[in-house]
Amino acid sequence: MKKQKLTIVGAGSTYTLGMINSLIAEKENFPLSKITFYDIDEQRQASNALATEIVLREAYPEVEEFIYTTDKAEAFSDSDFFFIQIRTGGLAMRERDEQIPLSFGCVGQETCGAGGMAYGLRSIGDMITLVNEIRHYAPDAWILNYTNPAAIVAEALNREFPDDKRILNICDMPAAIMVSYAQLLNCEIWDLVPEYFGLNHYGWFTKIRNRQGEDLTDKIKHIILEQGISAVDAEIADDPSWQATFKNMQIMLRDNPQFLPNTYLQYYLYPEKMVAKEDINNTRARQVINGREKRVFELNRRIIEAGTAQHEQLHADIHGRYMVRVAASLAYNLGETYLVIVPNQGAIANIQSDAMVEVPAALTNDGPKPFAVGHIPTFQKAMIETQLGYEKLVVDAWFSGCRQTLVNALTLNRTVVNVPTAQAIVDKLLVENASYLPQFQ
Ligand code: NAD
Ligand code: G6P
Ligand code: MN
Repeated sequence: MKKQKLTIVGAGSTYTLGMINSLIAEKENFPLSKITFYDIDEQRQASNALATEIVLREAYPEVEEFIYTTDKAEAFSDSDFFFIQIRTGGLAMRERDEQIPLSFGCVGQETCGAGGMAYGLRSIGDMITLVNEIRHYAPDAWILNYTNPAAIVAEALNREFPDDKRILNICDMPAAIMVSYAQLLNCEIWDLVPEYFGLNHYGWFTKIRNRQGEDLTDKIKHIILEQGISAVDAEIADDPSWQATFKNMQIMLRDNPQFLPNTYLQYYLYPEKMVAKEDINNTRARQVINGREKRVFELNRRIIEAGTAQHEQLHADIHGRYMVRVAASLAYNLGETYLVIVPNQGAIANIQSDAMVEVPAALTNDGPKPFAVGHIPTFQKAMIETQLGYEKLVVDAWFSGCRQTLVNALTLNRTVVNVPTAQAIVDKLLVENASYLPQFQ
């Protein structure tokens, strides 16, 4: 098995140490000879890197080389895989993305609605720049992206790099939901084979079978309807906000038992309820700043001071493991099935072919081979097409710098709809994001 070389871009992320633990848990499946960290924030990255150095020494000595750098040439020139997880504007701008729509009575969320639009506009430029730079040094490497909003990033990258078949956008949410299904069924996520369709953060599971071919869909629905479902994966299990979100899956299923919903549909199906529960001074970004971010950097500090991670409870979460297994399937041509974001090209028969859709695909060394979903029902089709219109218009607007296009986009978004509200939010977001979006000035 050829060992791989991996660069993590945005290595100052709160998810980096979890990713390292996942790489350790998956070392038999995806063996590494070299890990490189790259970030524009030297300090953030150094904290993760100094802790990682210790963790690797103790738990993954097979990695022959580990470097961290803010120099692109050094970071990009010697890797087979790139995992990208950047956040343009940081958590500070995430907080503004959440607060501004809320101040107009609309959903304020990292990836959904008007906040997701602002985040998308910030992410597109940095992602296009990064892919160009990576391709300069590593024309054939796999680029696996987690950077959000993945739907908008995927649409923009597909337009800018239409012939590049080695860029793949991924979301961990369907996998995190499947971890919860697995717990309900007393099995492991890897025993479950999903059928699913949608856009990123906007889709439905239509069928869950096990590897033996048994259809478990009705059983899962029944359990959720009877007793609910909770977040069980390591990183989210202790989080009240994620527990509330998972709880809403039962309500969504009661209100429409046809398919098993993605958690993110709560923002589009119950926007008023989602707004009503928010505290504008303590939105999700603030909770992450005071929670995960603090926890991760304090954990790093303890590991660095102790010179060992042996006194710490480190765990691999599905966020990391899913990405690593995706990478392994691509690297070793395993043809395993994962939910990924790909050009539709007929996978969903009655959705336009240039949509970036989230569907199951067999992952080979020739890229993802999506499975045919077939025709989807009118309700989901109409919902998807409206959201797709929003996503495409956001990307159009990024390229054209046209404010009216953004107003049209938000008019299509189920969390806004009302034109004067869309205008007011767009104007406010453009002022707040002026330094990131010169094309609109
Ligand atoms: P974070 O702010 O903690 O980390 C992001 C890091 O990216 C920071 O260290 C920052 O300095 C760095 N960065 C920003 N711009 C950069 C650039 N141009 N080049 C290199 N580095 C850059 O954020 P986080 O909460 O850890 O999340 C990281 C990203 O992962 C976000 O985009 C988040 O939305 C995304 N995410 C996606 C999924 C998914 O399902 N796709 C799941 C979880 C997180
Ligand atoms: C899930 C989604 C990601 C999103 C993250 C936010 O993992 O799939 O796309 O970025 O949740 O989680 P947070 O804890 O930062 O609110
Ligand atoms: Mn996601």
